[in-house]
Amino acid sequence: MDHHTPPFDPSGFRRALGMFATGVTIVTARAGDGTPVGMTANSFNSVSLDPPMVLWSLAKSARSLPVFHAAEHWNVHILANEQNDLANRFARAGEDKFAGLALETALADAPLLAGCSARFQCRTVFRYEGGDHIIFVGEVIGFDRSEAAPLLYVSGEYALATRLSQPVATAANASNDAPAPFTEELLGYLLGRAHYQFMWGFQRTLGELGLSHGEFFVLSLLAVRAGLDAAEIAAHTAYTGIAADAGLLETMCARGLLVANPGPATRYAPSPAGQAASRQVLAAAYAVEAALVEQLGAREAAGLRNLLKHLIRASDPGLPMLWAANA
Ligand SMILES: Cc1cc2nc3c(=O)[nH]c(=O)nc-3n(C[C@H](O)[C@H](O)[C@H](O)COP(=O)(O)O)c2cc1C
Repeated sequence: MDHHTPPFDPSGFRRALGMFATGVTIVTARAGDGTPVGMTANSFNSVSLDPPMVLWSLAKSARSLPVFHAAEHWNVHILANEQNDLANRFARAGEDKFAGLALETALADAPLLAGCSARFQCRTVFRYEGGDHIIFVGEVIGFDRSEAAPLLYVSGEYALATRLSQPVATAANASNDAPAPFTEELLGYLLGRAHYQFMWGFQRTLGELGLSHGEFFVLSLLAVRAGLDAAEIAAHTAYTGIAADAGLLETMCARGLLVANPGPATRYAPSPAGQAASRQVLAAAYAVEAALVEQLGAREAAGLRNLLKHLIRASDPGLPMLWAANA
């Protein structure tokens, strides 16, 4: 059965299909002997609202095929952002996929995984031949959802969903003339403005405590990495343009914010007063963050964190690691 006028390019076909962004699911069922099976599938889709029906398709080569074929019930788990390890686990053959996973009570025998964005418990109603796949259509007998942001899959990679922001009409954007030197789309502008507006939210707390940005920066750094010497502090802060030099460190010692531990190289740590001050500023910063996340929504906040981490990695001039665990 060759409908395709040659040459048909299978890998190009896969890549073209990959442009259709999907969520990521794990579909589970249970063999007659009680053995659980499950596999990662992005072929899931909704079919009907009344009666509620969904579908997904399974490669005929899948090891779990006989179990799904015989199963009366299967559960579809829409995976959350942080479940990409689970997606990988269930996409590999030959692993004990369910090891260490806590299962929840299901309506029927199919295993029910926890921590997902949504779950659909289904009863098989149709099975269709679909080339090298079998299409399963199920009636939904139970479902639930959580606020956990869903994991996406596009172009062969996991991705996060972020809302498109409202296009902002500006004089620069409205005209199609030569690119303006300074526009609202300039990343530097967006980052700078976002940074300053964020800082503005807890600027008052800094003022009340009489802390300069430099002092706050040094206190925050030493809250994570106490016992750095002046050269290390300078290396961590050089990119900020803040002069965290010997002069600043001495002033901070004199103001009772830092204690200096003499040795071959003097090492600095926040004093109890310094710790209290940085805790207060951090609390204010967390309050600003909480209000922002409330406005943005948890999904946007997760997407933003992800993009900022990409950006920080991509633009890193070779700074020392702050959080060793992230190394
Ligand atoms: C994001 C993603 C989506 C997938 N979607 C499907 C799918 O819809 N159908 C399918 O048969 N395999 C799909 N796979 C591949 C299976 O998860 C993989 O072949 C798995 O090992 C099958 O398990 P089994 O052989 O233990 O049954 C997908 C893999 C990934 C990573």
